[in-house]
Amino acid sequence: MASSAGSLKGTGTYVTLAKTLNLLVCENDMKFQPTEPSQGKFSYTGGDGLYTFAAANGMRIRGHNFIWHSQSGWAANVNGTRDQMLSIMRTHIDSVAGHFKGKVLEWDVLNEITDDGNGNALRKSFWQKAIGNDYADSAFFIAHRADPYGKLYYNDYGADGVNGKSTAMVNLAKGWLTNKVTIDGIGLQCHLSSGFKKEDISANIKRFGDMGLRVSLTEIDIKGSNTADWTNLLGACLENFNCTSFVTWGIYDGGTWLGSSCNGCLPYDASYQPKPAVQAMIDLMNNVDPAVVAKRKDFIKTDLAVPIIAFPRELRRANLRGGMLGVDAVPVFSTGSEMVDGLGRNRAIAPNSPWAGGLSVLPQ
Ligand code: G3I
Repeated sequence: MASSAGSLKGTGTYVTLAKTLNLLVCENDMKFQPTEPSQGKFSYTGGDGLYTFAAANGMRIRGHNFIWHSQSGWAANVNGTRDQMLSIMRTHIDSVAGHFKGKVLEWDVLNEITDDGNGNALRKSFWQKAIGNDYADSAFFIAHRADPYGKLYYNDYGADGVNGKSTAMVNLAKGWLTNKVTIDGIGLQCHLSSGFKKEDISANIKRFGDMGLRVSLTEIDIKGSNTADWTNLLGACLENFNCTSFVTWGIYDGGTWLGSSCNGCLPYDASYQPKPAVQAMIDLMNNVDPAVVAKRKDFIKTDLAVPIIAFPRELRRANLRGGMLGVDAVPVFSTGSEMVDGLGRNRAIAPNSPWAGGLSVLPQ
């Protein structure tokens, strides 16, 4: 669930409830503005607090988020050149991912980058306007280098089922995979209203699985929810081997960004009491298809104990030119026509890829 670290102190009902879960995310504390309140000055208090609580209680954390058009404080007003904004991006991701390196299960590297209008093109955020469309690729590569242990996600809203926006995301992801961008998964936020179609969301999760990508349901709330809504959403996740996280945005109706429009949007009521949906979801989890469970286990087993960081050679050349990434040059280790991606999978390099012909691998 999403929480602030501040709310996880003491022994109250909220804290007791939080301890029953196994994946936590900062609702705000790890965003750009709170972690880098002024340029080059970093603050990790909130994220550290969340991690300490999670680690003490056997939980993992998600990191939300590096690059977003919102809650970015001073960076949104820099109006810099491409190189200046790449440098700001690199410093921010390097610092935050570096600080939490190895402690974060999943990072939302990119948040809400697809436009709702404009043919679902990339949103014209201050990042996109200054750097160009490849800001997205650069963010993934920088994040992978800074924390090779974290799974790297692109997270967005309004794309939970099959629609124009989620189709645009499929196409974006296809391009990234072709170009060996170090993406591991897609975050579907799932800010939903009662009555959504389970089949629609399941089909959407599946099409990312067909591409080898994880899907996490990252910010779930369901306005006016009933038990069937919760079992439908969890069922859509459980029936797909590539759906690996199920995270609510808050946990009880009394503490949510939606305020009064929540209308029963979370699994626990305003007095922290479980709704019937909670037991129904537990029952569902106890009755999952073992074949899908086995496939999911196999799918996530690709995590490497010692990660290998791979950079396409062309990217290294770009670095040497001081271009695309703005990161230092790394030693070359050529493995011919393959590279190992963030999941440790060997991905053959397409013959027409600008990166065919060799790799750069950063030694540990
Ligand atoms: O921390 C300040 C506090 O110092 C100040 O006194 C107070 C006065 O308004 O504001 C506090 O900051 C607020 C912050 O939440 C922490 O409570 C911001 O005003 C408020 O805008 C911010 O809202 C957050 C919102 O993102 C920002 O866009 C919500 O809590 C958070 O739930 C929401 O989460 C987003 C995800 O990150 C991305 N997807 C959509 C989701 C819902 O909008």
